[in-house]
Amino acid sequence: MKIESITIIGGYGKSGLPEPVREVELRRGEIVSIVGPTGSGKTTLINDIEMFASGDTPTKRKILVNGGGVPEEIRSSPHINPIARITQHTTFLSDLPVYDFLSIHAMIRQDGDERLVKRTLDLANQLSGENIVPNIRMTELSGGQTRALLIADAVVIGNTPVVLIDEVENTGIYKDRALKILRECQKMLIFVTHDPLIALSSDLRIVMRNGAMVKVVRTTEDEKAVLQEVKRLDDILSELRENIRLGNPIGLKKVVT
Ligand SMILES: Nc1ncnc2c1ncn2[C@@H]1O[C@H](COP(=O)(O)OP(=O)(O)O)[C@@H](O)[C@H]1O
Ligand SMILES: [Mg+2]
Repeated sequence: MKIESITIIGGYGKSGLPEPVREVELRRGEIVSIVGPTGSGKTTLINDIEMFASGDTPTKRKILVNGGGVPEEIRSSPHINPIARITQHTTFLSDLPVYDFLSIHAMIRQDGDERLVKRTLDLANQLSGENIVPNIRMTELSGGQTRALLIADAVVIGNTPVVLIDEVENTGIYKDRALKILRECQKMLIFVTHDPLIALSSDLRIVMRNGAMVKVVRTTEDEKAVLQEVKRLDDILSELRENIRLGNPIGLKKVVT
């Protein structure tokens, strides 16, 4: 199933009035951020996308695929679902070793190609600051390792064209590198985020308020210039975090360079 675009047709906000943004088209290869205060409807919007709403959810939004109705093959075959979703609250029902978990998923999605398991682990280890070994149990992974593994799993084994990431905290993930690698994969990535680095690395951001899409902002050249500064600050903070974690003393001089 090739997805070149997903179109969100606006519905109604919490006030019951039509939402200001009537239509947004998201294209393959784009990174999109959904921003807005808590309770403004960010999760609800990605729920609509995930379930290909057709005016049948409380928001009355409609989701189009490649500019038209949702192909029947998507609705009728959950195992070819083109959308993967990664959430904050991941609890594994299985304490299988990582390798076995990935092998089983590869068997279901891709006839058990062993190379995919290896590629998934390689990608996860490029995303995560903490190395994941194949025989560690899923339940023993740290938060950062779990998210890196789930993103890699969605991209490589799931091979889904669309990945939704809902307020996933980014500690333990090389954000900048992750965004670069994921962009190269030509997926459509939709983040719910408050992280300036991710928001400004996106091609566009959808601004939510009171349950409605109120604005779509395309990242401007000026904002991309700000991104360079944000990356520098983010690196400083990451290094600080790492040093605190290792119990190293923190010196002012080192921080401000
Ligand atoms: N367009 C809407 N119409 C009616 N209820 C909505 C709408 N958008 C969001 N809600 C409701 O508002 C609450 C908060 O939305 P949520 O998506 O969880 O916000 P956020 O993820 O931004 O914190 C939820 O109970 C949700 O069902
Ligand atoms: Mg939410």
